Amino acid sequence: MKYTIACIIALFLFGKVSAQSKDEAALKAKINGIISKMTLEEKIAMLHGNALFSSAGVPRLSIPELTCDDGPLGVREEIKRFDWASANWTTDSATFLPNGSAIAATWNPLMANKYGVVIGEEANARKKIIMLAPAFNICRMPLCGRTYEYYSEDPYLNSQLAIQSVKGIQSQHVAACIKHFAANNQELNRDSVNTLVDERALREIYFPAFKAAVQQGNAYTVMSAYNKLNGYWCSENDFLLNKVLKNEWGFKGVVMSDWAGTHHTVAAANSGLDIEMGSSGPYDQWYFAKPLLAAVKAGQVSVKTIDDKVSRILWLMYHTSMSANHPKGSIATPEHAKAAYEIASESIVLLKNDNHLLPLKTSAIKSIAVIGDNATRTFALGGYGAGVKAKYEVTALEGIKSRFGKTANISFAQGYRANYMASKTDEQNRGYDKPDQNLIDEAVALAKTSDVAILCVGSNREYESEGHDRKTLELPFGEQALVNAVSAVNPNTIIVIMAGAPYDLGEIKKSNHTIVWSWFNGSEAGNALADVLKGVINPSGKLPFTFPVSLHDSPAFNLDTYPGEGLTADYKEGVLVGYRWYDTKKIEPQFPFGYGLSYTDFSISKLSTDKSSYKKDETIHAIFTIKNTGNKSGAEVVQLYVNDPVCSVLRPEKELKAFEKIFLKPGESKTVEMQVKVADLAFYDESKKGWNAETGDYILELGNSSRNIIHTTKIVVK
Ligand code: BGC
Repeated sequence: MKYTIACIIALFLFGKVSAQSKDEAALKAKINGIISKMTLEEKIAMLHGNALFSSAGVPRLSIPELTCDDGPLGVREEIKRFDWASANWTTDSATFLPNGSAIAATWNPLMANKYGVVIGEEANARKKIIMLAPAFNICRMPLCGRTYEYYSEDPYLNSQLAIQSVKGIQSQHVAACIKHFAANNQELNRDSVNTLVDERALREIYFPAFKAAVQQGNAYTVMSAYNKLNGYWCSENDFLLNKVLKNEWGFKGVVMSDWAGTHHTVAAANSGLDIEMGSSGPYDQWYFAKPLLAAVKAGQVSVKTIDDKVSRILWLMYHTSMSANHPKGSIATPEHAKAAYEIASESIVLLKNDNHLLPLKTSAIKSIAVIGDNATRTFALGGYGAGVKAKYEVTALEGIKSRFGKTANISFAQGYRANYMASKTDEQNRGYDKPDQNLIDEAVALAKTSDVAILCVGSNREYESEGHDRKTLELPFGEQALVNAVSAVNPNTIIVIMAGAPYDLGEIKKSNHTIVWSWFNGSEAGNALADVLKGVINPSGKLPFTFPVSLHDSPAFNLDTYPGEGLTADYKEGVLVGYRWYDTKKIEPQFPFGYGLSYTDFSISKLSTDKSSYKKDETIHAIFTIKNTGNKSGAEVVQLYVNDPVCSVLRPEKELKAFEKIFLKPGESKTVEMQVKVADLAFYDESKKGWNAETGDYILELGNSSRNIIHTTKIVVK
């Protein structure tokens, strides 16, 4: 019987696969037919921007322009064709979605998928074929200005989220453009730095999410990064684009350069770049315009190479704008708002709740002081990074008023002045870190007479910005002085931090009992936050990166490799990125990777495996039971790490290999099985130029953060 079922499934799958490959073969033939009708000039016109966010089509052959737009926070407002100024449309107000590290903090790939679907639907409404999202460079260095856009320091978590964001976007026949490939981990000198990364670190840390998004997510577009990788610009890096991406991973889609990230014609054309994009004209002078035509005529770039690029673009179009049943899309709908709310709700991380002040007991609270510039600030726009013209954005103060306003008197004090603009020089921004005593006095007066003080601090979209790295881990704008002053007069002070990257919370962690981490959390940020404070939502977010105690503890600073010397950043830490570094070097973090509390408690039973020893082609089935032992519904993210105690090379103390977010009602329990392929225990063996899962013992470690391992068990690989 089992055999018959297996045969039927195999036949069905084979039938499906062969029908798909037939379709693909027919499409290939169709594309070749179109290309045979095109002139060289028409082909070249498709390979470079003809405006800020498009490249030419071939109207004679009914091939439309290829349009694209930023991401990742949502579909960017329409700008003018040839400059960055607003086009002043009235129909481009969009949903502002939680930022990348917020999505990562959900530890829930379903949320990444939801995010993708919204992006895809809104892109269709705006007639964009490619969305320049998701962005998921590894958070190597806590100060990187784009950490808020990216996901995580861990390649596995990164991969699971990248796959689902891409699938979500592309489910709407819109191409995802995964970026920035590769090793673009700092903003300082991003367009001139040469990152030196050994192949093992590339394969184990910096490549996995790109590989997964290509092979499991089927991403249609990849953006090459600004920087050089091991001596070659990413936009003309044969190893990166031809050897790894296209040949090894089988990427069928289009590689586009980051804006003005192309440096040569022949090298880029022959090394795998398909489309040159940029920021200003004259467009016909770009590397992939007239110079490319000349290079083809001179025999430096073959017509076959050009045809391959055109073929990839047409392939992308037939899967997106020229696909059958292309969805019309929709923008800023209530369903999209609901998705933004759900993602935001799952992203908020409860860092400390020592006095059980949260969730707030509404009946006992008659007055709430909401304090801090971030309580009234919006985050959809700011700095140099792409933003969103949000249809609306609920601030923290608005959210708190709507959730508590009926039963308590809510008042507001600004508390600090956020005097910092990404566009200003250091000199002009001087003094941004100084407290404002008048604002502090006002806040203290309010806090003294209120039952609860909710302090909304952190950073903002000016302080964390594309094109800049932060200079310090400290909270900006003199916030610590405000926190100290308010906490001194109100014993019920809740610290809410809104930011997208790690900060030094040392003093707050030591002196404050209640800390909540929120993000640049999208259109519904304020509602989600207030619902967490009220207990309508039980927090379930977990940190997607480590918070170090000091900058010096972090690998790039400890090894003095940031920002690099003479425009070379040597990633000397190799694979020891994020918790891999802190755990292996036994450095205590401020808050560990994977950490986050709940309003309920969970107990996790012993971890068992289906067998005690495995062959290299087998899969480990790790089984445990989890129970909600508290009296509130909630979710726990259970994380499975693996430690390889004896190995021929240095391995990190632990590596995340599986995780699951499990939702449980009070008293409910669930038996969970996590699967890990033995092949995924391998390290990249430079000596063999391949993956190597050595025989011997491995320890499976199950926990609810990277530093809270609850059960371990040993398995053997034979
Ligand atoms: C960024 C990309 C972005 C592009 C277009 C570049 O500066 O690095 O992420 O997609 O601009 O706005």
